[in-house]
Amino acid sequence: TVELNPTLLPLEWLLGTWECDEPGEGSFPTIKPFRYTETLHFSHVGQPVINFMFNAFHAESKKPMHRECGFVRMQPGTNRVAFIIAQNSGLVEIEEGELTGQQLSLQSQQLARTSFAKEPYVKQICRVFQLRSDGKLEQTVSMATDNQPLMQHLRITYRRSS
Ligand code: HEM
Repeated sequence: TVELNPTLLPLEWLLGTWECDEPGEGSFPTIKPFRYTETLHFSHVGQPVINFMFNAFHAESKKPMHRECGFVRMQPGTNRVAFIIAQNSGLVEIEEGELTGQQLSLQSQQLARTSFAKEPYVKQICRVFQLRSDGKLEQTVSMATDNQPLMQHLRITYRRSS
């Protein structure tokens, strides 16, 4: 195993594999509420970069649904964190924000999509990762679209599986 790049020590708690604890809850004013499961993988190869994959599945049928992958970087000597993300829906994004204790609060800075992406378009994404005192990780995602203001889309908790 390669030693963690010291730049990333403040984010060491994120590394590993996280399985959802119980199904996550999805909602938005324009859609039917739904449940999903999700596995997160955060790893590194010694670079000052974390590699990640998020794979979500239908809670009942277990069919693959939403997928994201990308990289996490930290601005050395600061608490500024950037997520560089590609989603299977055709969306790519840069999210930036701050690490406060074991909470990461991120806001989209740049969004781009394929020319043939379905509407409505996402206009803004806010995401929070929090390592709770019981050792569980929680992720919430809010978004704004062409026709809806910023509102929660996802909420899920995970337990560490390795
Ligand atoms: C719907 C974006 C993650 C499941 C939507 C819609 C958007 C969206 C724009 C359409 C809303 C509308 O029609 O008004 C995103 C973004 C995500 C994300 C930006 C990540 C940052 C997820 C995840 C799941 C999921 C992890 C888990 C399975 C769904 C479902 C719908 C939906 C089931 C409703 C049906 C559909 O339109 O496909 N999402 N989503 N989404 N999303 Fe997400």
